[in-house]
Amino acid sequence: MSRIVIEKQANQNIINSIYKIALDYTGDYFTINLPEDTKNDLVFQHVMYLECNNDIASFIIFTCWDGSPHITLMATQRESCGKGYGKELMKHFVIYLTELGFNRIELFTVPPDTKPIYKNTVAFYERMGFEIEKVYSQLWETGALKMIKTW
Ligand SMILES: CC(C)(COP(=O)(O)OP(=O)(O)OC[C@H]1O[C@@H](n2cnc3c(N)ncnc32)[C@H](O)[C@@H]1OP(=O)(O)O)[C@@H](O)C(=O)NCCC(=O)NCCS
Repeated sequence: MSRIVIEKQANQNIINSIYKIALDYTGDYFTINLPEDTKNDLVFQHVMYLECNNDIASFIIFTCWDGSPHITLMATQRESCGKGYGKELMKHFVIYLTELGFNRIELFTVPPDTKPIYKNTVAFYERMGFEIEKVYSQLWETGALKMIKTW
C-alpha cells in the first residue's frame, strides 16, 4: 500500500526518516555534513514523499528559487532503489507543479567526472527528462551540474 504526501512543514518523524535515508548514503553518494544540512533545509523547504507500508520509500525536498521549482535533494531508500518509486514520485511532482502553473524543474547534482557513482544519478534524471544545462566547476568540492526539465 503506497501513497504520495506533500508536507509544507515536515514534522519531526518525517525529518528523522529523511535523515536516516540521507545518512545511509553518506560516504559513497553524500558528504558527511549532508544529513545535518538537510535537517536545516527542512525548516524552510517543502517535501513530497512516497510512503510505502508506513515508511518513506522516496522523497523530494524542494523549494522555488529565482522563479523556478528547484529540487534540493532527492533520494530513494537504498534497499528500495530500482523498484520505480523515484519515477512514480517524480511523476506526481510534475503533476503537482503543473497544477500550480509551472512547467520547469531545476536541480544541481554532482558531475560523474569527479564522482563516478553519480553516473547512476545523472542517468536517472536523464531518464526522467532532465538535461544538463550547465557545468559549474567552482561550485562544491566536486563541481556541480545544473540539470533542467521543462514540459
Ligand atoms: C537516483 C534515485 C533517486 C533514483 O530512484 P529510484 O527509485 O531508484 O529510481 P526508479 O527505480 O524509479 O528508476 C526510474 C527510471 O530511472 C532508470 N534508472 C535508475 N537508475 C539508473 C541507472 N543507474 N542507470 C540507468 N537508468 C537508471 C530506471 O531504469 C527507470 O527507468 P524506466 O523508466 O525504464 O523504468 C536513487 O537511486 C537514489 O536515491 N540514489 C542515491 C542518492 C542520489 O543520487 N540522489 C540524488 C542526489 S542529487
